[in-house]
Amino acid sequence: MTGPTLHTPRLVLRRWLDRDRKPFARINADPEVMAFRFGALTRRQSDALVDEIETSFELRGFGLWAVERKRDGRLLGFTGLGTSDFGASFCPAVDIGWQLAPDVWGQGYATEGAVAALGFAFNGLELEEVVAHTTRLNKRSRAVMGRIGMTHSPVDDFDAPWYRPGHPKRRFVLYRVTATEWREHVAR
Ligand SMILES: CC(C)(COP(=O)(O)OP(=O)(O)OC[C@H]1O[C@@H](n2cnc3c(N)ncnc32)[C@H](O)[C@@H]1OP(=O)(O)O)[C@@H](O)C(=O)NCCC(=O)NCCS
Repeated sequence: MTGPTLHTPRLVLRRWLDRDRKPFARINADPEVMAFRFGALTRRQSDALVDEIETSFELRGFGLWAVERKRDGRLLGFTGLGTSDFGASFCPAVDIGWQLAPDVWGQGYATEGAVAALGFAFNGLELEEVVAHTTRLNKRSRAVMGRIGMTHSPVDDFDAPWYRPGHPKRRFVLYRVTATEWREHVAR
């Protein structure tokens, strides 16, 4: 296995192992986790997502890392980098995202993992900007975006083309952070 492994005080962000597939499928089948996403995934869909993520690491050198908790080795979910290329004004772009098992929400793990992923984006990949987007109703995800120094301008909001017109999740918010803003944020 090649590819970046990132360490934070409580987490390891690493490539995916076969033993992650079962706990990841459990997370992806949880309606609370998927409330602001596309809906619960079957085991087959969840496994296909792991394969897609691993292909991203092979092709691009980055992807959605498996987030493992150091103290017990548990797979908590993912945090990492993806690509947005669906015709919106800010595309193509590298985006950051996260998804954790609900029983570990509220402990700062998503923020901790995202800080490491952004550090890799700016210091390792030397990107100029990273974006994040979610349906505007997703308060928890938006709070992570704010905590890691991303900012939201309503002029960037857009309709997600993968939802039909009128769908309650269709209106999306876009958050951005540049390398310079990021360096200022971490220096504070
Ligand atoms: C989005 C998601 C990852 C956010 O998880 P989260 O637990 O709310 O976020 P964090 O891990 O950063 O934790 C922040 C909370 O922990 C608290 N916290 C405790 N210790 C902390 C620490 N060391 N550092 C930061 N926050 C800490 C914060 O005060 C905050 O509490 P609050 O929720 O009461 O305001 C989670 O809700 C999720 O997986 N949702 C489903 C998937 C999803 O929608 N993903 C986004 C798609 S775009």
